[in-house]
Amino acid sequence: MDFFLDTGEVNEIKEAAKWGIIDGVTTNPSLIAKSGRNQFDVIKEIVEIVNGPISAEVIATDVDGMIKEGEELANIHENVVIKLPLTEAGITACKWFSDNQIKTNVTLCFSVNQALLAAKNGATFISPFIGRLDDIGHDGPGLIEEIRNIYDNYGFETKILAASIRHALHVREAAMVGADVATMPFKVVKSLFKHPLTDKGLEAFLNDHKKANNLN
Ligand code: G3P
Repeated sequence: MDFFLDTGEVNEIKEAAKWGIIDGVTTNPSLIAKSGRNQFDVIKEIVEIVNGPISAEVIATDVDGMIKEGEELANIHENVVIKLPLTEAGITACKWFSDNQIKTNVTLCFSVNQALLAAKNGATFISPFIGRLDDIGHDGPGLIEEIRNIYDNYGFETKILAASIRHALHVREAAMVGADVATMPFKVVKSLFKHPLTDKGLEAFLNDHKKANNLN
């Protein structure tokens, strides 16, 4: 399973990149707005930090505007992936980008039928928002499982990118049902390392070492 960082904060990306486990980055207009910076400037920095797929989302809602913006974003670096909303225009633009060998990440996916549309038009990634589904009492990881089954039924190559991840359990659930990628906030990545028994066990090892070697 690939791990992507879901953020527009370059400092978070720099720190997480040191761990060697980050395979890509996803951004969206809200994350870029939160960074307080220009989208192009942020993406230009990120591509120099992480050598993997970097998702940059278009703002346009019409096909021509999406294509124009997407081409400009794709020109930043070969690793830039164009993020498109799951709308008629976004799915139409997805076909254009796919036909022109530009990678895409179709986002704001909340149903299997939406995921089918993206795969049919050659999306590189599909982003089901599992946290937002859980937020309203639906089964976010269950949607991933259904998409996995249907993509495998027909041999679709679109990669399932579990998004809107709220906590470490979502990462486990996404992995259990076969998501190709999990994109998560910095705090969730950090939480993956932690377990109280690990901390307790290490403390005991070190204390025993100190005692055996008369160290204080
Ligand atoms: O990449 C999509 C993700 O950023 C959405 O997360 O927490 O706004 O549902 P959230």
